Amino acid sequence: MTTPFAPRHWSSRFAFLMAAIGSAVGLGNIWRFPYLAGENGGGAFIVIYAITTMAIALPILISEIMLGRMGRQSPINAMRALIAEHRAARIWMLIGWGGTLGAFVVLSYYSVIGGWALKYVELALTGAFAGETNVAAAEHFSAFVSDRHSVWIWQTLFLGITVGIVAAGVTSGIERAVVMLMPLLFVLLAGMAVYATTMPGFGDAMWFMFAFKLEEVKPDTILAAIGQGFFSVSVALGAMMTYGAYLDKDVSIGRSAVVIAVADTVVALLAGIAIFPLVFTYGLEPSSGPGLTFITLPIAFGTIGGGIVIGAIFFLLLSVAAITSAISLLEPVVAWVEEGVRLPRAALAVIVGALAWVAGIGTVLSFNLWAEYYPLAPLGFMEKKTVFDVLDFTTSNIVMPAVGFLMSLFAGWVLTRETVEEALGARGRRWLPLWRFSLRYVAPLGVVSIFVANVLM
Ligand code: PHE
Repeated sequence: MTTPFAPRHWSSRFAFLMAAIGSAVGLGNIWRFPYLAGENGGGAFIVIYAITTMAIALPILISEIMLGRMGRQSPINAMRALIAEHRAARIWMLIGWGGTLGAFVVLSYYSVIGGWALKYVELALTGAFAGETNVAAAEHFSAFVSDRHSVWIWQTLFLGITVGIVAAGVTSGIERAVVMLMPLLFVLLAGMAVYATTMPGFGDAMWFMFAFKLEEVKPDTILAAIGQGFFSVSVALGAMMTYGAYLDKDVSIGRSAVVIAVADTVVALLAGIAIFPLVFTYGLEPSSGPGLTFITLPIAFGTIGGGIVIGAIFFLLLSVAAITSAISLLEPVVAWVEEGVRLPRAALAVIVGALAWVAGIGTVLSFNLWAEYYPLAPLGFMEKKTVFDVLDFTTSNIVMPAVGFLMSLFAGWVLTRETVEEALGARGRRWLPLWRFSLRYVAPLGVVSIFVANVLM
């Protein structure tokens, strides 16, 4: 079969791994994991996270990459081909449609936050954090996000970089960017972590994150661990499926998935080691999300010697982590239109990027003009959620679990054992029955429980 577009495939296993780890390592690792661990039992949380991620997110990750490599196209067309080949029901198309639409929606808000990260590189470099106090830092952040024109400029820059990389193609765009950016991210983060060991607050920070506090573990903790693992390894949005479609037949998917999940976890742990000593050294309160990143840390950067450099490094690595994730959200959509529309990839990447930009307007305005506009409140749900909150909540708690659920059932029940053994090139491997057991029972149950706990309760 000839395709009207340039062939899309990774030139090495290393390139695939960098792209996939780039997708997995994102805001979730840096602003969410460390705090979640610290607040939910420290070392005990880390052990629970490792177990649930191995038992649920990793098996789904293996299936997702496998489905991509079996279908060899964008998630939508890959699922269409697999359904025809295995005479499965049309309902499984939801995997392709749900994942692709979800990726587009996540991209729309992810790029707004990515824009904030870029803006903070500039602020760090110009010494804007000097002498920052608690109140001033919070005011500066709120002044920035309230200024929608400025946020638009940075969102546009962030999306522009992402589109530029995807437009250049899989090999000469994505691959070239990730093999350079991911090692850079790793070096910057490791450097920050080593530096953090010399800070007076290092001991307290390690206690916060790693002490084994079993008494803090609640039933919710386990669900939080499942949800975090799921988002963090980037399953259920078609990103890994698309990357799998470009993977050579002879690369071991099982082994690659383990490398991806382990690298993702190592980065999350390193992020905590790099960040919390800053927080504790200056007697600040640990927190998570935008508050930690854009309010608490700037205070520390404004006080510490060499804070200009350290602050700039931190926001640069945050921007890199966000860009390599955003690329993986744009690619499934661009790959799909490329398969159906006879226009150059560059033009399609710009069009999809422009649509994501427009879709991001709701998120930009959620922090200013529409800060008190709750779109679903008239219908009686998500009453205190802005447009941004609704998009974030729906994608993380509804679309991702639903797609992950369907993916594990499709790979576990619809495809036969022979088919998957063949597709993974793992005939007779001892982990295969365990993997299938997880797909058939453990992963669907785990994923349904996140949904029930977060949406219905
Ligand atoms: N894993 C990314 C993060 O931790 C988010 C992401 C999810 C990216 C799904 C792509 C697909 O921030």
